[in-house]
Amino acid sequence: MLAIVKSTALFGLTGQVVQVEVDVSNGLPSFDLVGLPDMACRESRDRVRAAMKNSGFEFPARRITVNLAPADLRKEGPLYDLPIAVGILVATGQLEQSAVDRYVFLGELSLNGQVRGVAGVLPNVLAAREQDLRAVVVPRDNAAEAALAREVEVYPVESLGQLTRFLRGEEQISPYEVDPLLLLNRGGNGADMADVRGQAAVRRALEVAAAGGHNLLMIGPPGSGKTMLARRLPGILPDLTFEEALEITKIYSLAGLLKPGEPLVTQRPFRSPHHSASAVGLIGGGRHPRPGEISLAHHGVLFLDELPEFHRDVLEALRQPLEDGVVTISRVSGAVTYPASLMLVAAANPCPCGFLGDPARECTCTPYQVQRYLGRISGPLLDRIDIHLEVPRVDYEDLAGREPGEPSSEIKKRVERARNIQRQRFGPGGTSCNARMTPAQVRRFCSLSREARSLLASVFRRLNLSARSHDRMLKVARTIADLEGSEVIEAAHLAEAVQYRSLEARYWPG
Ligand SMILES: Nc1ncnc2c1ncn2[C@@H]1O[C@H](COP(=O)(O)OP(=O)(O)OP(=O)(O)O)[C@@H](O)[C@H]1O
Ligand SMILES: [Mg+2]
Ligand SMILES: [Zn+2]
Repeated sequence: MLAIVKSTALFGLTGQVVQVEVDVSNGLPSFDLVGLPDMACRESRDRVRAAMKNSGFEFPARRITVNLAPADLRKEGPLYDLPIAVGILVATGQLEQSAVDRYVFLGELSLNGQVRGVAGVLPNVLAAREQDLRAVVVPRDNAAEAALAREVEVYPVESLGQLTRFLRGEEQISPYEVDPLLLLNRGGNGADMADVRGQAAVRRALEVAAAGGHNLLMIGPPGSGKTMLARRLPGILPDLTFEEALEITKIYSLAGLLKPGEPLVTQRPFRSPHHSASAVGLIGGGRHPRPGEISLAHHGVLFLDELPEFHRDVLEALRQPLEDGVVTISRVSGAVTYPASLMLVAAANPCPCGFLGDPARECTCTPYQVQRYLGRISGPLLDRIDIHLEVPRVDYEDLAGREPGEPSSEIKKRVERARNIQRQRFGPGGTSCNARMTPAQVRRFCSLSREARSLLASVFRRLNLSARSHDRMLKVARTIADLEGSEVIEAAHLAEAVQYRSLEARYWPG
């Protein structure tokens, strides 16, 4: 007899419904699984057989064929254990077909019949909802994330036995419910700008970067606080909206990185991959494509500490996603796209030993070593970083002083005000912040005062700027004016923006 059970499959972050067709017929005992299953999926056969036997069900000594349709879509991971087991129970008359029709099933089985959590439940449940399937059976461990999909009944199960009793009407399971908005309103993450002593100019630059969504490069000697500052950037960015939090959560669900007890990612991500990271780790992809660090930093901060130490091909691969806010990964079965709209914060020492230009310690590097070191950061990448910043070592007086810095919550208020101006400027959809303005928008929205115009003309000639640098400078000036609530960009705004590009002439001459 033929049984049909519903499940879902993902392609990138989007998905579609999968029909699990199970046929049990007379013949030599066998168990075939077809329909483009990957390795983890093929191993379902062994898990399902053991789980059914150990849960006290009859496992048919007949010919079993399981087809995952449509057959042209790759089925990944162990999440089809549950629908396959249910299909066999229906095909052998241990469950009624009509009892399973309305549900979508997702879950891995352990050999003793327990239902194990799997990665990617939230995007799978959203895919089901898109097809108007509004009842899903998921592992208990994934119930909270599944329930983030609104208007879907989520039935958490612990074991195949419990599920079967539920489907036979012998046991009640009440749908799992969460109030996602309640989850969203949770406090900060601890690392506060109040901990940073002194460093007024650096704090200011961080605020400007946050206000306009500008990428940032910090150059400074060891111990000057670059890492400390970068970690505090997410805390001065605007609070996440629910939609943003859900987008991030989908990515973390897919990567299997949701923490137990925290179904919704409510803080802006901060990712700091090591400089030995591979292109796949950073960008995403691989044989079983996973989102990379740049997607895990979506709506948050990607911190690349010791930027010159990263592999060249990795840095080059960053360029396109930085520009587009999404990353496309090509695969045999077609390209998948993951979101990657992030703020890049990069840090570097001024030279291999770290002390170039330090008033207190002497640099031991040769000019050739210095040039080679920073030269590893290519011009095109440098061009995508709006703000270049020197981070001097903090003054002893500042560090020893008792005076705490301004807290993140206060800075965030100014950032949010500037972001509101930008939201109104660009309207709903499309451009989200000044850093992402198109060249046409730069021309339209960056009107300069007369004084600012003549300053720009002289700077442009003196610094020998590329057209791209010119636009970057205007975008930063736009943000500085927004922080002040000024419609027109004044000379003072532009002068500050010019400063944020002045390291180029010093460290990357020619
Ligand atoms: N402005 C500051 N206020 C308070 N503490 C500071 C400040 N700057 C640095 N520190 C202290 O110095 C420590 C080292 O800073 P951090 O690790 O951020 O430096 P870094 O610039 O990243 O150094 P490296 O180049 O070695 O990575 C911090 O953990 C912090 O305790
Ligand atoms: Mg550091
Ligand atoms: Zn040096």
